[in-house]
Amino acid sequence: MTSRNVPFFNYPYVFTSQEEEFLSIIQDVGRRGAFIMQSDLLDFEQHLAEYTGAKYALGVSNATDGLHIALRAAGIGPGEEVIFCSHTMVATAAAIHYAGATPIPAECGPDHLLDPASVEAVITTRTKAIMPTQLNGRTCDMDALQAIANEHDLLIIEDAAQALGSKYKGKMAGTFGLASAISFYPAKNLGCFGDGGAVLTDDEEMYDAMKLLRDHGRDEETGDVVMWGLNTRLDNLQAAILDYKLAHYADEIGHRRKIAALYQEKLGDLKELVLPPAPDSHPDHYDIFQNCEIEAEHRDELRAYLKEHGVGTLIQWGGKAVHQFEKLGFNVRLPYTERMFTRCLMLPMNRSLSDEDVAYVCATIRRFYGSE
Ligand SMILES: Cc1ncc(COP(=O)(O)O)c(C=O)c1O
Repeated sequence: MTSRNVPFFNYPYVFTSQEEEFLSIIQDVGRRGAFIMQSDLLDFEQHLAEYTGAKYALGVSNATDGLHIALRAAGIGPGEEVIFCSHTMVATAAAIHYAGATPIPAECGPDHLLDPASVEAVITTRTKAIMPTQLNGRTCDMDALQAIANEHDLLIIEDAAQALGSKYKGKMAGTFGLASAISFYPAKNLGCFGDGGAVLTDDEEMYDAMKLLRDHGRDEETGDVVMWGLNTRLDNLQAAILDYKLAHYADEIGHRRKIAALYQEKLGDLKELVLPPAPDSHPDHYDIFQNCEIEAEHRDELRAYLKEHGVGTLIQWGGKAVHQFEKLGFNVRLPYTERMFTRCLMLPMNRSLSDEDVAYVCATIRRFYGSE
């Protein structure tokens, strides 16, 4: 087998893949001097709302800020608890912390998403909301989470940072709860050229409050400052780039779903691995494969072997669930999640991969397990 170099993610490709188009967008925005809160942002927000089916979309600086202002707009704060899945980026918990509330970690399940049974186990009289992370481009079992929320009178605010376009029972991630946030970090399925994010909601009051919060609490008509706010706007230039990319987003998702199907075809029989479900293997789920997160026997040895043979992999969040970051002061054990973190590994999953790259990654894995 000829050796190849398959990086985990190809950052230059984000720009070089359509360099001409991007340069012309940058030139157009620059020549109009349209940098902050201009028509490109409004267009993108409208198109994003149409795409997701949410009533309102607002561009923000990043998903972390998006979750933060969503919590604040929902009135969640000191003395209240918000339950989140510990298999998430620390950003989810940080948003809860900075809203003044207490983040309460819960377990992930075999699908690596928030486990509804674990949520029920940590509900207290202070619990105000559940913040499920729609991880790896797959949406949680929202029926189960909604039933718990209804029973205990809790809000749902979704961390849909990794899930734009993913669906559960035909409904898009980010449109289940009171509000949600999406990330446009460059490695995301819809990535911009720096930080970027959006919040979604169907609720007019939430929309109005989040709009004020993202722009210094200023009323956009009068300029009057009507509350304490932040500066967390999405740059107009990023919005212009994202609007162009959103129009071609189906190609991005299609490419990733094809790669996921190839991984399944070439590795599905290996007993040493647990792969994410193949595209369309479950009628309730439409996955967009932000990541291909597997579980592997002898994970660290496999990772080293892949590296030696030119294949980049990643263990999410530096190899720890949020509650395992000691300095953050969580004092809980989540055995299922902790075991999962000794086994999980992300294989390359991005637009720059060719079928040959994927075949090489799979052949290298098979060779590692002696199953060529
Ligand atoms: C699950 C999850 N939540 C939140 C975030 C934070 O997004 P951002 O970097 O846009 O603030 C990320 C980003 O990687 C994420 O993956």
